[in-house]
Amino acid sequence: MTIVALGADHAGFPLKEDLKTWLICRGYDVVDLGTQSAESVDYPDFAVGVGCAITAGKADRGVLVCGTGIGMAMAANKVPGVRAAACSDAYTARISREHNDANILALGARITSREAAIEILEVWLGAEFAGGRHARRIEKIVALDGMREQEPRDAPAR
Ligand code: RB5
Repeated sequence: MTIVALGADHAGFPLKEDLKTWLICRGYDVVDLGTQSAESVDYPDFAVGVGCAITAGKADRGVLVCGTGIGMAMAANKVPGVRAAACSDAYTARISREHNDANILALGARITSREAAIEILEVWLGAEFAGGRHARRIEKIVALDGMREQEPRDAPAR
């Protein structure tokens, strides 16, 4: 069964709890990496936790919730091997799997209703990477992880 790692900041905490219940009811194994209350916290701390759970093989997919999903996605994408997609509709959620092989879904609790978030999550979990021409592009994203150790340089000529 798919293991889903969850993370949220204070803005995302109530939605994270709702999504956890939904996931458990549908038989997913859930690893809840916090936060566990509405007390103010810093979203990068939870983004890195879920990101590392994915890259360490402790979870198959990750879901991060903050106010907009944007900060969580930005922070999670700093973890080499993570492809986090901030999605606010079912179409982008599906394409983030089929084309971008996203391994983390970032949701915004202040912009997405509970019902919409569950729809987005269901679509995202049900969609598979299409491979083919998209695999070549993902390989190029993966290669960018190595840039972090290098000096800044101009964009390469195509
Ligand atoms: C917290 O106020 C808010 O900035 C955070 O949840 C998120 O929206 C950041 O991207």
